[in-house]
Amino acid sequence: MQLVFVPVTFIALSALAGYATGADFEASSYHEQHCTRCHGSEVYTRDNRRVQSYQALHAQVSRCDANLATGLFPDDIDSLVEHLNDRFYRFDK
Ligand code: HEC
Repeated sequence: MQLVFVPVTFIALSALAGYATGADFEASSYHEQHCTRCHGSEVYTRDNRRVQSYQALHAQVSRCDANLATGLFPDDIDSLVEHLNDRFYRFDK
């Protein structure tokens, strides 16, 4: 009898843990909430911006993420990089 409850508990826990991961991750609102603490989006468009390639953008986003306590999953970092590239950088991959 008890076995019946295991899958249900598992699903409930996955739903709780899923709020910041995978498909539910909203790069745009995450960026607004967490990434604008130290700098605004003007650093992405300034004349002397530092990031010059898609790889460098990925590396910088990972570095900046390490300053935050949120600890994003790799998939979420990818979404964030994609978002910044779409909106600001426009590098070819
Ligand atoms: C603890 C402070 C801090 C937080 C939080 C932070 N950053 Fe940064 N970020 C910096 C600093 C410092 C620089 C370097 C600015 C400079 O070179 O003048 C930087 C630079 C960048 C650059 C490169 C800009 C360029 O010149 O091309 C990107 C991209 C970036 N951050 C993305 C992010 C993202 C995405 C987040 C959220 C996950 C984030 N940052 C959160 C401090 C932070």
